[in-house]
Amino acid sequence: MNKREFLRTTAGASLTVLLGERLFARYSGVPADRLAQDETFWSAIRAKYRLKADYVNLESGYYSMQATPVLEAFVAKVREINYQASYYLRTTQVPDKAAVRDRLAGLAGCAPGELCITRNTTESIATVVNGYDWKRDDEAVMAEQDYGHMLAQFRLMARRYGIVNRLVNVPNDPKSDDEIVRLYAAAITPRTRLLMVSHMINVTGQILPVQKIADMAHARGVDVLVDGAHAFAHFDFRIPDLHVDYYAASLHKWLGCPLGTGILHVRRDKIPGLWPIYGDWRMTDDTDIMKLNHTGTHPVHTDLAIADAIAFHESIGIQRKEARLRYLQQYWSNKARALPNVIFNTPADPARTCAIANVGVKGVPPNDLAKILLDKYRIWVNAVDSDSAGVHGVRVTPHVFIRPAELDRLVTALREIAGA
Ligand SMILES: Cc1ncc(COP(=O)(O)O)c(C=O)c1O
Repeated sequence: MNKREFLRTTAGASLTVLLGERLFARYSGVPADRLAQDETFWSAIRAKYRLKADYVNLESGYYSMQATPVLEAFVAKVREINYQASYYLRTTQVPDKAAVRDRLAGLAGCAPGELCITRNTTESIATVVNGYDWKRDDEAVMAEQDYGHMLAQFRLMARRYGIVNRLVNVPNDPKSDDEIVRLYAAAITPRTRLLMVSHMINVTGQILPVQKIADMAHARGVDVLVDGAHAFAHFDFRIPDLHVDYYAASLHKWLGCPLGTGILHVRRDKIPGLWPIYGDWRMTDDTDIMKLNHTGTHPVHTDLAIADAIAFHESIGIQRKEARLRYLQQYWSNKARALPNVIFNTPADPARTCAIANVGVKGVPPNDLAKILLDKYRIWVNAVDSDSAGVHGVRVTPHVFIRPAELDRLVTALREIAGA
C-alpha cells in the first residue's frame, strides 16, 4: 500500500478480520436479536477495546472510546502526516478528506453534497442557528430536555436579535408518539421559523418520533433541526427518512471516532439560505455545503480516522450493534424497575430507547448516588440533577463491550442503596 492509500484507507477491518475465519463462519447467519445475547461473540468484540480495570465504564454517552484497531490507525495517521508535513497538506489533504466525507454520507444515507465534517454537534448546531438571518420576534421551538449548551445557542440569538424561544416539556414516559407531536405543535405560532428536536434525549435516552414531528412542522412552514448527538451510529436509521432540514451529530460518541469529529447534514435546498459563520471563497457558490465548513488549518488526521471507525462499525453491523445495546439496557433496567424506591426517568417501551437509561433512588441526591456507585461499587456513571428537565438520577450508558455480569453489579448496588 502506498502512502496515499494508507492515509485514505483503513486496515480493511471486516467481521472476518475482527473475529477470525472460524468464529465468523459461526456467526454470520445468526439474527441480530439472538446474537445480542451471545457472550462468546461479544467477548471477541470486547477484546478489541482496552478497558480500565478500576471501574465498569457505564458512561460511554459522553465519549465512547475508540476500539484499538481504530486508535492504532489514527496514531499511524498522526505520525504519517507529521512526517509528510505541508507536502501532504498541499497535495492530497483535500481529496482524502472528501473521500472520508463521501463514506460518511453513505453511512448517513444522504448525498455527499449535503454533508460536511465538523468538530462536533456543538459546531454543527451553531452553524445552523447562526446561519439564519434572524429578525426581532422571530420564534424558535425546542425542549427543556435538550442539551443545555444547544439551548444556550438559541438564548444567544434571543439576546442578539430579539428572537423568542418557546420550550416544550417532554414527559419521561410518553404514552404515544402523538402525545409528543401535539406538544411540539402547540408551541408553534405563525412567527415560528425553526424547531430543534433531540433525536435521543441525552439525559434520559428517550428516542423522539423525529419524522412525525418534522412532517407536522413542515405542514406549518417551520424548518426542523435535529440534535442527533446520541443517535448517529447508535441505532439504525437513514437521515433522509427523517424528512428533516438539518441534522447534527458527534462522531466521538457512538461511531467511536477520535475526539473532535462530527457531522452536519443540510438538505440541498436549504444550503443557499444559510449564512456561513466564517468567510470562505466558496461563498460565491451559495449552493456548496462547503461554504459552511471553513476550518482553517486543522487536525486532518482526526478526520481521516473517521474512515477507520466506519470500517470497525460496519464490521460489527448497525443492526447487531443496536440489538446488543438495547439488550444490555433492558437486561439491567428490567431487573431494576422491579425494585422498591427506584425511580426510572426513561420510557419502559423498548422501542423508545436503546443503550441509555436514567435511574434514581428515592431520597438519594443524584451526585451522591453517582459517588456511592463509584466509591463503593466501582461503577462509573453520570449524575443528572435537573429541575428544568424533570430528571433526577444517574445516566447509565453501556457500550457493546459491557458484559451482563457487570450490569448485575449495578442492579445489586441499586438494590442495596435503595434498601430493598
Ligand atoms: C444531545 C446532545 N447535544 C449536543 C451535545 C454536544 O456534543 P459535543 O460536545 O460533542 O459537541 C451533547 C453532548 O453530550 C448532547 O448529548
